[in-house]
Amino acid sequence: MWLSWSQIVVIFIFPSFPTGFCSLVSSGTEFVTAFMENIAYFYWTEPTHKLLIACLRDNTVVNVTVADQAFKKSLVMSEGQAQEVVLPSWVELEKFNSSYKTVHVSSNSPVTVFSINQKGSSIDTSVVLPIQNLGTQYRVAAPTPPVDRLYQFVVINTNEVNTVTVSHSSKEKLTVTLGPYENAQFQAAQYPVSTEVTAQTPVAVLFGHPCSELDMCKCSIAFEQLSPVPNWGTQFIVPDLFLTTTMNQSLVVVTSDGSDPKDILPSKYHSEFPPSGSYPPVLEDSSTHVPASVTVAVSLLQPGLMTLIPEESFATCYLLHTLGGYQNYALVVVMTKDKEGVMLGEETITKVTWKAVDETDYSVGLVELDFSTRPRVIWHLTSKMGVYIFGKNYEAAFGSPALILKVEPDGSKCRAYPGQLELVLEEKSWTDAVEHCWNTQSELGSFNSDKVLGFVARELGGTTLSSAWVGLRKSLLSGEWRWLTREPMAVDKWSGNQPNTSLLTQCAEMSLEPKTILAWSATSCCDQLPFICFKQGTEMPFP
Ligand SMILES: *[C@@H]1O[C@H](CO)[C@@H](O)[C@H](O)[C@H]1NC(C)=O
Ligand SMILES: *[C@@H]1O[C@H](CO)[C@@H](O)[C@H](O)[C@H]1NC(C)=O
Ligand SMILES: *[C@@H]1O[C@H](CO)[C@@H](O)[C@H](O)[C@H]1NC(C)=O
Ligand SMILES: *[C@@H]1O[C@H](CO)[C@@H](O)[C@H](O)[C@H]1NC(C)=O
Repeated sequence: MWLSWSQIVVIFIFPSFPTGFCSLVSSGTEFVTAFMENIAYFYWTEPTHKLLIACLRDNTVVNVTVADQAFKKSLVMSEGQAQEVVLPSWVELEKFNSSYKTVHVSSNSPVTVFSINQKGSSIDTSVVLPIQNLGTQYRVAAPTPPVDRLYQFVVINTNEVNTVTVSHSSKEKLTVTLGPYENAQFQAAQYPVSTEVTAQTPVAVLFGHPCSELDMCKCSIAFEQLSPVPNWGTQFIVPDLFLTTTMNQSLVVVTSDGSDPKDILPSKYHSEFPPSGSYPPVLEDSSTHVPASVTVAVSLLQPGLMTLIPEESFATCYLLHTLGGYQNYALVVVMTKDKEGVMLGEETITKVTWKAVDETDYSVGLVELDFSTRPRVIWHLTSKMGVYIFGKNYEAAFGSPALILKVEPDGSKCRAYPGQLELVLEEKSWTDAVEHCWNTQSELGSFNSDKVLGFVARELGGTTLSSAWVGLRKSLLSGEWRWLTREPMAVDKWSGNQPNTSLLTQCAEMSLEPKTILAWSATSCCDQLPFICFKQGTEMPFP
């Protein structure tokens, strides 16, 4: 059998570049989203459209604007803080039209954004992906029953004029031009046929239903932001949500090459994909392992719409936002051998029910969270996991993946970034620089690993200064070079003939010039230079 070009790309690129997934943290400095139509005809309440913004560094300015500043809000936030931004009710989209009601979030340091669309008990939530995680290629498929045509998707443009093509096998191709921050809604083709969305430059895509059927003659909005096709995966654990409701949970699988998911999954799963007319399959009351031979996207329907995290994109630290008025749960998928190490804030988790997933090394745990609305982190020191957040009360339920703060285990708890840098332009001697940093609750920078140095280079890459003091000094007793943190030197960035062995050069400056950035030279401690204060990122940015 010949593989199609797209299959080849999907199969071979990802296993060979696993670090590509590192970029999938949920934090960023720019986001676009929109609020899909939420019908809820049986509620008289005003809609609540809001964003929960969580901040990872001090002195962060966050701007939220809609429609060329018709709405504008500016926040100043500090590390570990979460704030909600309630948007005006006119941001809600109307059916199948284009609009400029795009919500644009920008900030001067990384934040995470979580979206809530609610009218009474018609509620759902979604992670808002930062712009660096958006793509130009998406696939969308609507479940078949109940037979209605309301599954829709919204394509949200970023800051440049963009051409978006929407195509699926039985319809004519649609090409639309979107202006900066314009969005357009489309009807989704029915499963198992998927609609392909391609754009010239990255777009965000939301998928959902404005009034998905619940029991008791009610309906609820169900929506989620989709991942672009290159970020899909092949291994999924479909978790049992331990829900005791009359609602049937079902699964939607979309393949990256447009093939029928029934053909892609191994034969033992075919019974879950009964012959035509009865998609999507109803899940049994237990967790299921879904391995696919091409990359796929898997979502659960009910409660809300919840996209599943492929095993390839599991991470070590997640942020959980809980909603007031609901019993909130975190659902954790982790290797069975590592389940004792799952931590909630500083504590091991206690209120948890574990179930092993058949034929895999994984277990699924349902963690009961309290009713408070403060953000929490759930993390593991050595193992990667998949974490979802969902909530329910007597009449409503919502769910989505949790926000990823850190992907790789690196020995720290939940440190999302190495630290906060301040380049002080005022020229001082090395000793005065040490004191200045000390007085601002930081330290003259000790950059003792390639990872931290890479971070410093990215953060200071734009400066026009030629060099600055770092916290590196020669010991008068032993003659050894030492960081202020007293750590022995783990990396060597001495330039050319450095370090100069003259008795007059006992302190180190670091080059900031593009060609030699990060290179160290020994200099007289009495020279006057700008300097870099560094405050290490907190291990536990949220409780
Ligand atoms: C789309 O929106 C525009 C502007 O709000 C409006 O004038 C137009 O009638 C709408 N079209 C449809 C088909 O609803
Ligand atoms: C936020 O808005 C203010 C005022 O319009 C602007 O000066 C600032 O650059 C904006 N900051 C970000 C991070 O977008
Ligand atoms: C759930 O699925 C079962 C089996 O397919 C079906 O008989 C039942 O009517 C479904 N329940 C609801 C509420 O859709
Ligand atoms: C070492 O430093 C001394 C004193 O600043 C200077 O005179 C000398 O030229 C330096 N040597 C090298 C190789 O940079």
